[in-house]
Parts: sequence; C-alpha cells; structure tokens
Amino acid sequence: MTTYAVTGATGQLGALVIEALLDQDVNPADIVAIVRNQAKAAALSERGITVRQADYTAPEALAAALAGVDNLLLISGSEVGQRVAQHTNVVEAAQSAGVRRIAYTSVLRADTTALALAPEHKATEAVIRDSGIEFTFLRNGWYTENYTGQLGQYLQAGAIFGAAGDAKVAAAPRADFAAAAAIALTGEGHGNKVYELGGLPFGFAELAAAVSDITGRDIPYRNVSQAEYQQGLIAAGLDEGTAGFFAALEANTAAGDLDTDSEDLAKLLGRPATSLPEAVRAAHAG
Ligand SMILES: NC(=O)c1ccc[n+]([C@@H]2O[C@H](COP(=O)([O-])OP(=O)(O)OC[C@H]3O[C@@H](n4cnc5c(N)ncnc54)[C@H](OP(=O)(O)O)[C@@H]3O)[C@@H](O)[C@H]2O)c1
Repeated sequence: MTTYAVTGATGQLGALVIEALLDQDVNPADIVAIVRNQAKAAALSERGITVRQADYTAPEALAAALAGVDNLLLISGSEVGQRVAQHTNVVEAAQSAGVRRIAYTSVLRADTTALALAPEHKATEAVIRDSGIEFTFLRNGWYTENYTGQLGQYLQAGAIFGAAGDAKVAAAPRADFAAAAAIALTGEGHGNKVYELGGLPFGFAELAAAVSDITGRDIPYRNVSQAEYQQGLIAAGLDEGTAGFFAALEANTAAGDLDTDSEDLAKLLGRPATSLPEAVRAAHAG
C-alpha cells in the first residue's frame, strides 16, 4: 500500500489532483490532503480522505502532516517571494518523515527560462535534488484558464489586448495538469524525471478566433507595445507594480517562454491535451 499526499489540496489545482487520484481508483484512505485551512477541507474529510493542517511556514506541523507518506505532490505556493523558504520547509519535513518521492509543480524549462516567475521554481528544484529524495519535476506550462477566465473582460472590451505579438503559448487546462500529476504520482518509472508539460500551442489570433467563433461576437486580437499594455492595466485600476508584473509576463510570452513542443503532457495523459476551442467552449458554457 502506498500513501499519497497532496499539498495545496484546497487550491484549484490541488482539488483537481485529488479528483484525479480518486478517478484512478486510489483508495481515499490512502490520500492525505495537506491544507493550511482545515475549514476549507470539510468536503475532503467527508469523502474519507485524511486531512492534515500544515502551513508551508510551519516546519513541525509539516513533519507531522507527512508522517507515513510515501509519495508527495508539493504544489508550489502562491506567496511569490517567500516560496523558496516555504518549499524548503516542506522538503526538510519530507526528509525527516522518510518520504520516498516528491513530485513538484514547477515551470517550463525552470533551469534555463527567462520567465520572471522561474527563479523560485529553479531554486526549489535544486533544494529537492539536494535532499536526495527521488523527484519528479512537473514543469507545468500556463493554465488555459489564465485566458478563458478573462472571457467576460474580452467580451466587455470587444477585443483581446496583449503585447505578445505572434508568440505561441502551450497552455492546457488545470484539469490536464492535475491528471498528469496524479498519473506521475501513482505510476512507476517517474522517479528522477523532469517533464516539460504543455498543451497544444496556440497564438493570440487563434485565441481571438476561438472566442469569436464560440461566443458569436467579433473579438479581434489587438497587439500593443509593452508600455501601452502596462498603461492599459493601470487605466483599468491595477497598481503600477502589478501592471508591471503582467507587462513583464507579456514580454516573456512574446519571447516564447510559455511555449514548448514537448509531448510529455500527452504522453503522461495517454491522450492529447484539451484543445483551445474545447476550453473556450467550456468556459463559455460555464
Ligand atoms: N501554470 C500556471 O498558469 C500557474 C498560474 C498561477 C499559479 N501557478 C502556480 O501553481 C500553483 C497551483 O495553482 P492553483 O491554480 O491551484 O493556485 P491556487 O488555487 O492559488 O492554490 C494555491 C494553493 O497553495 C496553498 N498555499 C499557498 N500558500 C500556502 C502556505 N503558506 N501554506 C500552505 N499552503 C499554501 C493554498 O492554500 P489555500 O487553499 O488555503 O489558499 C492553495 O491551496 C500556484 O500556487 C502557483 O505556484 C501556476
């Protein structure tokens, strides 16, 4: 019997990973959901999943939460700037608890990319490698929801504004990354492997075409300069720092940092990733 733990189990990706594990017929009693807010996890307990409370900042609680765990999925935290220290706490707790393998949600080409968000992932990968624990690096591409989640704004603005030119993004829905994570966590042969996980690459003109086709509205892609993009976000109410962060992400996107031709995701899933039109259709229906 193998015991699996998932951190961030009350987050969007974590919840989908738990579903994917159950879909794979993993016994709920063999799943440990590690959450920082137990009140959010009542539905998990009701389904027979063991819920343990531990914040990434609390080493002792983390060690207790990982007792008896064999394979751990460490879902990267959301507190940018604090994540290396937080993830290091999890890895050290895993060492003391005797965890056999850590799967970690990283980013595409974490060790070489210029993506502004990558340094914390690169550093976390190094901490995991140095721990001596077997690892599986799930270098996730962008979530399609980063775009489909803005469907209402696209329709309201009558256009999709961006500064990524004709760059492509190999995005996939969270559910695809979650299913791949569950497969990598439970399957054999994934120890000390690095997976570059991306969906079917699409450009922003394709995104605009899919949105137009599915909503029945004419929503073109309007490419602007990075400075104009940043100003547009400030005009829409974002503070300068946040607008600068998103403008820098556009520059990363334009440079191809969110694209990959790797087939690792489809190989892990045993099927192609969900297509852009399918994802837009689901968002529109939702
Ligand atoms: N590939 C992409 O496009 C993309 C986009 C955004 C983020 N990400 C990364 O992927 C991760 C998962 O994505 P998501 O959509 O599931 O994000 P999410 O819904 O924000 O989930 C993040 C999870 O991390 C937990 N968490 C954050 N700080 C923690 C702490 N100090 N201690 C314990 N748990 C903590 C949160 O707990 P609570 O449930 O209590 O809030 C939540 O469950 C993100 O955290 C981020 O690192 C990827």
